[in-house]
Amino acid sequence: MKKGTLLYEGKAKQLFETDDPEVIWVEYLNQATALNGAKKDQISGKGELNNQITGLIFNFLKSKNIKNHFIKQLSETEQLIQAVDIIPLEVVVRNVAAGSFSKRLAIPEGVQLNKPIVEFYYKNDELDDPMIVDDHILFLELATTEEIKQLRQMALEVDQALIELFNSMDITLIDFKLEFGRKKDGTILLADEVSPDTCRLWDKKTKEHLDKDIYRRDLGDIIPVYQEVLNRLEKRGE
Ligand code: TMP
Repeated sequence: MKKGTLLYEGKAKQLFETDDPEVIWVEYLNQATALNGAKKDQISGKGELNNQITGLIFNFLKSKNIKNHFIKQLSETEQLIQAVDIIPLEVVVRNVAAGSFSKRLAIPEGVQLNKPIVEFYYKNDELDDPMIVDDHILFLELATTEEIKQLRQMALEVDQALIELFNSMDITLIDFKLEFGRKKDGTILLADEVSPDTCRLWDKKTKEHLDKDIYRRDLGDIIPVYQEVLNRLEKRGE
């Protein structure tokens, strides 16, 4: 497989063409951003940690019959994925109150929710990714009623699978963000990444953050913490 021209550069990844139109070559970058890009830094080692963590998690999700775009790991910072049209929605699932949920509703961080909550955000940098409801999604023609139902269902299935995975690593899954894409035949696949950049992960014993809140909130260095998540994932697979 050959790496072709750059198709897209995001905040944390570059996507390249390959000689197969159905396959994309992804390079994970060392850039960290927060506050919709207002806070930005190069953090050496971040790309390889998120690439490897995402690969292991997507393989785990595949073993749980959750369809996703991951094909294979190529190197420490590169992976192959199936080409999909990304649906411009961020699907957030919450198990425990934290972040914007806590702020919006004045619920202290750490309060267990009685059932998972699914939220949709419109991926639009100019608008600062606003939260939207189903009728907005239909009005903007981002997804059909059937697709919205499927996104919600897949997000909850991912939640159940990830809770099990992280429990086995002594980690509480607080919340996370997913993105989905459509294949040419309309099949919806889980896409993008699942990593400490896109999840809130708290150590079960110490309640310490093992995720990007370390960077967002200036709590220290993310690299040892992301490495700890990778170590626990790898240990699980042994
Ligand atoms: P929030 O509490 O800031 O809304 O974030 C909820 C979850 O979604 C949290 O695990 C971080 C993740 N997230 C992203 O991955 N990308 C984003 O742009 C945002 C806003 C949140």
